[in-house]
Amino acid sequence: MKLAVLASGTGTNLQALLDQVHGRGGNEIVGVASDKAAAPALDRARAAGVPVGVFPTADFSDRPARDAALADWLEGQDVELVVLAGYMQLLSSAFLARFPSRVINVHPALLPAFPGLQAIQQALDYGVKVFGVTVHFVDDGVDSGPIILQRAVEIPGPESAQEVEERLHQIEHELLPQAVGLIAAGAVTIDPANPRRVLVEEHQGAPGAS
Ligand code: GRF
Repeated sequence: MKLAVLASGTGTNLQALLDQVHGRGGNEIVGVASDKAAAPALDRARAAGVPVGVFPTADFSDRPARDAALADWLEGQDVELVVLAGYMQLLSSAFLARFPSRVINVHPALLPAFPGLQAIQQALDYGVKVFGVTVHFVDDGVDSGPIILQRAVEIPGPESAQEVEERLHQIEHELLPQAVGLIAAGAVTIDPANPRRVLVEEHQGAPGAS
């Protein structure tokens, strides 16, 4: 499967995909795109020899124009799956329509709790004792698409957002490659009777599969 990763920041999730998925089992990251030219994620891609693209919103007349250029770039590389890994822009409906059920995101909370920005701080402020990570399909809403995988972790008395983030990053770096591996293996389908429900078949060969 050919996949592309969109990232705005540090790119530790991109690194997990480069380390665990790229060049294995017929899977290839064919491009990494960002809205930020200085994103460290792009350096990780370059270091792995993966082509990069930069699509800053300011370079385009509006968000739909930016997304159209981004979609053209991805289609030009025959991308079959688009992975959002810390991509800090909302994608337009027209973009998503070009990759139906082919865009996934990793979110540092147990959705539907704490969607949107600052999810870890939201959870801390709420006082939860169980945190977690969600990998989900992207739809028109904010972190509202059908859930593929989730994993919870008990952190009863966290001292800081940074402490929680470190724990969740460890989970993300397993869960996101696992989800990509399952999709590549054809083990992820949407229940025809309930499009909210994602059916996931266990697959031993998938990265991170237990
Ligand atoms: C992750 O916490 C992810 O859940 C969120 O953005 C963060 C990206 O981190 N969507 P990194 O750039 O992959 O280190």
